Amino acid sequence: MVSNNQLCHLFLFLCFFQITCLHAQLCTQEQTSALLQFKQQFSFNKSALSNYCDSVGIHSYPKMESWKEGSDCCSWDGVECDNNTSQVIGLDLSCSWLNGTIHPNSTIFYYFPHLQSLNLAFNDFGMSPISSEFSRFSSLTHLNLSDSSFSGKVPIEVSFLSKLISLDLSYNYGLRLEEPGFELLVQNLTKVRELNLGEINISSVVSNSLLNLTSLTRLDLFYCGLLGKFPDGIFHLPHLNELRILYNPALTGYFPEFINSSSPLQDLELQQTNFSGELPDSIGNLKSLKKLGAFGCKFYGSIPTSLGNLTETTHLGIGYNNFTGMLPSSLSNLGNLVYFGVGGNNFEGKITDFLPNVKGLLYLHIGSNNFGGPFPSLGANLTSLVSLDLSNTQLTGPLPSQIIGLPNLTWLSLEDNLINDTILSWVFSLPALEYFKISNNKLTGHVKQLKSTHLRDVDLSNNSLHGRFPSSTFTHVNLTSLILSSNNFSGELDMLCYAVSLEILVLSSNRFNGSIPQCLGNFSTYFSVLDLRKNNFFGTIPNTFVKGNYFETIDLNGNGFEGAVPKSLVNCKMLQVLDLGCNKFSDNFPH
Ligand SMILES: *[C@@H]1O[C@H](CO)[C@@H](O)[C@H](O)[C@H]1NC(C)=O
Ligand SMILES: *[C@@H]1O[C@H](CO)[C@@H](O)[C@H](O)[C@H]1NC(C)=O
Ligand SMILES: *[C@@H]1O[C@H](CO)[C@@H](O)[C@H](O)[C@H]1NC(C)=O
Ligand SMILES: *[C@@H]1O[C@H](CO)[C@@H](O)[C@H](O)[C@H]1NC(C)=O
Ligand SMILES: *[C@@H]1O[C@H](CO)[C@@H](O)[C@H](O)[C@H]1NC(C)=O
Ligand SMILES: *[C@@H]1O[C@H](CO)[C@@H](O)[C@H](O)[C@H]1NC(C)=O
Ligand SMILES: *[C@@H]1O[C@H](CO)[C@@H](O)[C@H](O)[C@H]1NC(C)=O
Ligand SMILES: *[C@@H]1O[C@H](CO)[C@@H](O)[C@H](O)[C@H]1NC(C)=O
Ligand SMILES: *[C@@H]1O[C@H](CO)[C@@H](O)[C@H](O)[C@H]1NC(C)=O
Ligand SMILES: *[C@@H]1O[C@H](CO)[C@@H](O)[C@H](O)[C@H]1NC(C)=O
Ligand SMILES: *[C@@H]1O[C@H](CO)[C@@H](O)[C@H](O)[C@H]1NC(C)=O
Ligand SMILES: *[C@@H]1O[C@H](CO)[C@@H](O)[C@H](O)[C@H]1NC(C)=O
Repeated sequence: MVSNNQLCHLFLFLCFFQITCLHAQLCTQEQTSALLQFKQQFSFNKSALSNYCDSVGIHSYPKMESWKEGSDCCSWDGVECDNNTSQVIGLDLSCSWLNGTIHPNSTIFYYFPHLQSLNLAFNDFGMSPISSEFSRFSSLTHLNLSDSSFSGKVPIEVSFLSKLISLDLSYNYGLRLEEPGFELLVQNLTKVRELNLGEINISSVVSNSLLNLTSLTRLDLFYCGLLGKFPDGIFHLPHLNELRILYNPALTGYFPEFINSSSPLQDLELQQTNFSGELPDSIGNLKSLKKLGAFGCKFYGSIPTSLGNLTETTHLGIGYNNFTGMLPSSLSNLGNLVYFGVGGNNFEGKITDFLPNVKGLLYLHIGSNNFGGPFPSLGANLTSLVSLDLSNTQLTGPLPSQIIGLPNLTWLSLEDNLINDTILSWVFSLPALEYFKISNNKLTGHVKQLKSTHLRDVDLSNNSLHGRFPSSTFTHVNLTSLILSSNNFSGELDMLCYAVSLEILVLSSNRFNGSIPQCLGNFSTYFSVLDLRKNNFFGTIPNTFVKGNYFETIDLNGNGFEGAVPKSLVNCKMLQVLDLGCNKFSDNFPH
């Protein structure tokens, strides 16, 4: 017979045995208390979290809150230990609501010489500097301090971490990498595969030493203030998949030749740099390319036919350069396109010759070119479009009548063309439309009510549209800007007070009439432009302008308004334009 006491011991023994079997690793006391002291340095507040975590659906929570005395630190959330030595080798505290400062005397720097991976990204370190003591993590292979409100000078000591395979310091807006920091980093981190210094102020030329980083798979130097010429050779680093040097307006360079077809480049983003020259035919050798971002550079010449061979491409953005000629019909082979942006160049020829007819295409931006000719019929497969920009392309004739459902189209930009005839009913029925711009055309006829309840921005100005403008348009809760000037619309403002988001209302040079409702000046907080010039409005102006309103322009010139000028206009402190001329007001501007 065993006594109760013995049973209890046996039970405890079994328990202990089980725990040690399941978690062979037991954190050392030293590391446990060092981690607990580290925890003390922070408070946990969801508002310390970077928006990034939520935006990409990473579940965020204060991982450290579960860290408690008396438990095995190797089992704590975010802590990884070596299974043999029980040393802490990994700390992942990304998206953990951390708010505080990591001082140079922090225990974290003194008890973790075997740490290989440290991830503190997406927290809030309150614009504190990165301590030079980070160099004590001499075994570190992965360091991520992205988007965590660090600022100041990146300490030179970071370049002592010569085992780093991955370094991410991006999106810390106040961070600087002063000379010779960049050079030292690049010279010493010879094993680095992923280097992300995006949004760090570097403001120097790109070191040729980067050419020695032959293991690089990913290089992010966007928004770094880089200067001088970008070394061509970097494009040819043997393992480079992703090269993002966008938004460095003073960085010059050329699109290099790709002589053989083994380049692994998938993502090449040069937009908003000072790169110039022509795109070489050999661009067709970039067989892995998925994203080509080159908008807003200084490229010119014609687009090589070989570009149509890059059938993996999902994003092609070459807009706002100085390209000329016809777009090659080979581009219609790009069956995986999601984004097609060639606007803002000097392209000519027929749109239908190159237009991809692809189910997955969401963004079709081909405006501001010299296409001309009749409005193209869009491919039958372009049903997923979210954004269509054909503005400023000298298109003539009517809109195509055969447009199948575009259930997700939110942006339709057709302004500055020669489109005549009426606006066809498929436009009014677009269910998701938010931005509709068709100003500066030759449209005639009546307009119907726009069906979409999501409308934000409507511009029909400078056409020859007439008839009653449907006043139900004002009931759309997100309507921000309505511009109808220089048409022959009639109608009243009886529904105006429902437009609770309205900021800009321009109805000048039409035949609107009726009076202005009593809500004026107090129904929409950011209302700033009211332009009713040259219409047939009458009645008195409501004396309802509230304190703190945002009106900048009030132009009522050329109507039949009468009575007193409202005293409450003195509440319009932001006012820059006030034109009440050519009306029948009975007194002067209030004092
Ligand atoms: C969290 O931070 C916000 C903004 O700084 C503050 O208003 C709030 O009181 C904080 N909550 C806690 C529990 O500290
Ligand atoms: C982070 O802590 C600092 C200093 O205690 C405080 O001023 C700041 O409001 C905190 N931030 C958040 C998001 O809680
Ligand atoms: C340690 O062991 C666990 C459980 O077997 C395993 O999931 C983990 O990957 C191992 N860690 C390392 C660093 O080997
Ligand atoms: C660590 O340094 C900070 C800032 O200098 C100081 O406030 C804090 O008291 C120090 N902590 C310890 C344990 O020395
Ligand atoms: C480069 O790394 C070595 C260790 O590999 C270190 O001794 C040296 O100080 C580092 N140099 C610089 C300039 O960071
Ligand atoms: C590249 O590395 C080699 C060998 O370490 C060195 O001699 C050379 O100076 C380095 N080149 C650059 C541009 O840093
Ligand atoms: C496109 O690829 C095919 C087959 O790989 C090749 O024969 C052709 O020359 C390429 N076209 C261009 C314009 O590069
Ligand atoms: C664009 O190219 C045309 C003709 O090739 C040239 O005349 C013009 O100066 C260029 N414009 C710019 C801004 O480079
Ligand atoms: C539409 O797409 C399908 C499949 O992607 C393709 O087979 C068909 O040719 C396309 N339709 C047209 C009219 O190009
Ligand atoms: C429209 O968008 C929704 C939601 O993103 C998607 O599920 C649907 O497939 C889209 N419709 C088309 C025709 O692409
Ligand atoms: C539209 O313009 C074309 C020529 O560009 C003309 O043939 C046609 O008659 C015009 N249609 C209308 C309704 O004005
Ligand atoms: C209005 O805008 C808000 C904020 O962008 C959005 O959440 C809401 O869905 C919009 N409402 C409609 C009816 O589109």
